[in-house]
Amino acid sequence: MPSARASASPSLALIKYWGKQPGGVNIPATTSVAVGLHALRTTTEVEGEPSPAGRSPAARLSIDGVEQLITPFEAVIAAVREHAERAGSRYSAYDLTIDSRNSFPTAAGIASSSSGFAALVGSLATFFELDLPDQEMSALARTGSGSAARSVFGGFTRLDAGSRKASRIHPADHWPQLRVLVAITDRAPKAVGSREAMERTRRSSPYYDAWVSDSVSLVDEAIAAIGERDIERLGTAMRASYLRMTGSMLAADPPVIYWIPQSVAIIRLCEELRASGIHAWETMDAGPQVKILTTTDDTPAIRAALESSGAVVGVLESEIGGEPSWRVG
Ligand code: DP6
Repeated sequence: MPSARASASPSLALIKYWGKQPGGVNIPATTSVAVGLHALRTTTEVEGEPSPAGRSPAARLSIDGVEQLITPFEAVIAAVREHAERAGSRYSAYDLTIDSRNSFPTAAGIASSSSGFAALVGSLATFFELDLPDQEMSALARTGSGSAARSVFGGFTRLDAGSRKASRIHPADHWPQLRVLVAITDRAPKAVGSREAMERTRRSSPYYDAWVSDSVSLVDEAIAAIGERDIERLGTAMRASYLRMTGSMLAADPPVIYWIPQSVAIIRLCEELRASGIHAWETMDAGPQVKILTTTDDTPAIRAALESSGAVVGVLESEIGGEPSWRVG
C-alpha cells in the first residue's frame, strides 16, 4: 500500500489573527506575526488504496487515534486531490486513510489546527508525489485553518490581512536565544473552538472593529523588535495584541472566556517576574494555556517559578524553528 508521512510544528502568533474578511475561506482580517514552535510536532501519515470502480475516492481521518468526522477536512483533501489530478498523479483516485498525531495536548489552545492542517497538506502532497511551491502549500493549508498558512514555514512568519498565503520574515536562526515556555493549565479540550469564537466576536462584539483597526499598529512594531532582537519591545507589542484580542472576545455576545483562574495566576506571575528584571512575556490564544516568550538566560528562573506556582499541570519548552519535514534538507 503506498503511504507518505509529513510533520509540521504549531505556529504561535505573537501578533494575533482574530477575525475573517469576506470573499474567501479563512482570509484573515488582521495581520499576524508568528513563530514556529520547534519542540512541538504534528505528524501525519497517509495510506492509500485504489477506490472501487463506480464511486468517487473517499477519505477517513483520525487524530491521536480517534476517528474524526471527515467534513472539516474534506475541502482541503479535495483541493490537494485536484492538484494531483491536474499533475496526473498515479494515486489521485485512491481512497485515503489519514492518521495524525500530536506531541502535545490537542484542541487546548496550542494551535494544533495550525500544525495539523500544515501536516495534512504536506502528507497529502507527498503521497500524491506533488512538488508545489511553498506559497501554494501555504494557501492550501490556509483553507483548512488560517494559522496553518504560517506553519508551512518554520522560523518567523507573517500572514497579512486579506492575504491567501503566509510568508517568512526570518529563518529560525535569526534569534537563536529566543524561547517559548508553554504553561499547561488544563489538558481538557476547549468548549468553544477558535473558528466559532472568532466569528461570534466579529458578529457581536462592539469592540471588533476597534480590534481590527488597532491591530495594524502592532505589526510594524513587532517586526522591528524581531529585527533588533529586542525582547522587551517585542513582548510589549505581543502583550498588547493578545490582551486587545481578548478584550474583543470578552465583549462578544455571548462572551468568549478562555481564561481560567490558573491562567490569570500565570499572567500575574509574569508581571512579578518582569518587575524583578526577568524577561517573561506572556501571550494566550483560544484556550487556557499561557505561552511565555523569553530568552535562554531567563528560562530556568521562569520554569522554577511556574513549577512552584501550583497553577500548571505541565510545562513545555521550545526553541523557535518548526521547519516542516518536506522543507528540511
Ligand atoms: C488565537 O487558525 O484556528 O490562535 O482559520 O478558523 O481555523 P481558523 O482559525 P485558527 O485561529 C487562530 C487564532 C489564534 C491566533 C493566531 O494563531 O493567529
